Amino acid sequence: MSTEFSGKTAIVTGAASGIGAAVAKMLAERGANVVAADLDIDGLKTVVGALEANGAKAVYQATDVADPGAVERLVNKAVEVFGHLDLAVNNAGIGGPSATTADYPLDGWQHVIDVNLNSVFYCLKYEIAAMARAGKGGAIVNMASILGSVAFAQAPAYVAAKHGVVGLTKTAAIECAKDNIRINSVGPGFIDTPLLSKNLEKDALSAIAAMHPIGRLGRDDEVAALTCFLLSDAASFITGSYHLVDGGYTAQ
Ligand code: NAI
Repeated sequence: MSTEFSGKTAIVTGAASGIGAAVAKMLAERGANVVAADLDIDGLKTVVGALEANGAKAVYQATDVADPGAVERLVNKAVEVFGHLDLAVNNAGIGGPSATTADYPLDGWQHVIDVNLNSVFYCLKYEIAAMARAGKGGAIVNMASILGSVAFAQAPAYVAAKHGVVGLTKTAAIECAKDNIRINSVGPGFIDTPLLSKNLEKDALSAIAAMHPIGRLGRDDEVAALTCFLLSDAASFITGSYHLVDGGYTAQ
């Protein structure tokens, strides 16, 4: 077991499933204390139980990341339980309705922007404050998407939110560089998680897989590996940038 993140405390949002669960597992395997947050309490219990069974220190907090008060309580909990906050992965997100811009439902737009973009602002606001108070630096990754830099028809809210996450990441990063708090975003291609399998039929999934030059969907552990690298001291000169893990999708 690596000790790369030994003694560090990490918040992971959306930790009950998919990419967030894989990131929580990899951070814990490398020595971090994990504070797992999600709306899905049963999923959180399963993930945290598995981390503890492997000898990690982990707690969970039921959190709606679209609620700033809940996010503030989440950050406070990390500091109360483990004494400090060093790392954060702002990953919770939803796909939202599939419709053209002209037909997109107003409530669907608001919900996707709340969960996928406003949430990242709330997380950054309280995480940065906690890290700056402690004065020991930190590292944060915001989960964007390839759709943080290219479009996808019938997903206007998702694409707008993920482009917003990339810009917000850059802004917060240049503000925080003086405090040695590094902030980056990750842009996965289509990854085989419940976000896709719950919303798309098998044929649609195969068609999407074929859009990646590598010829398959990505795996959650491949996104976790990049995320953990960006959180690690090996990435000490990397901040404010957007990092793809997309099987070549956006190179075409
Ligand atoms: P997932 O559906 O497997 O996991 C997302 C988790 O977020 C779930 O456990 C869900 O309960 C939680 N969540 C949803 N709304 C929440 C809220 N308001 N408050 C707290 N938790 C909430 O999805 P996946 O694929 O692991 O996605 C994670 C992130 O990666 C998302 O931000 C997504 O946009 C992004 N992403 C996913 C890609 C994919 O193809 N799967 C591609 C690019 C980015």
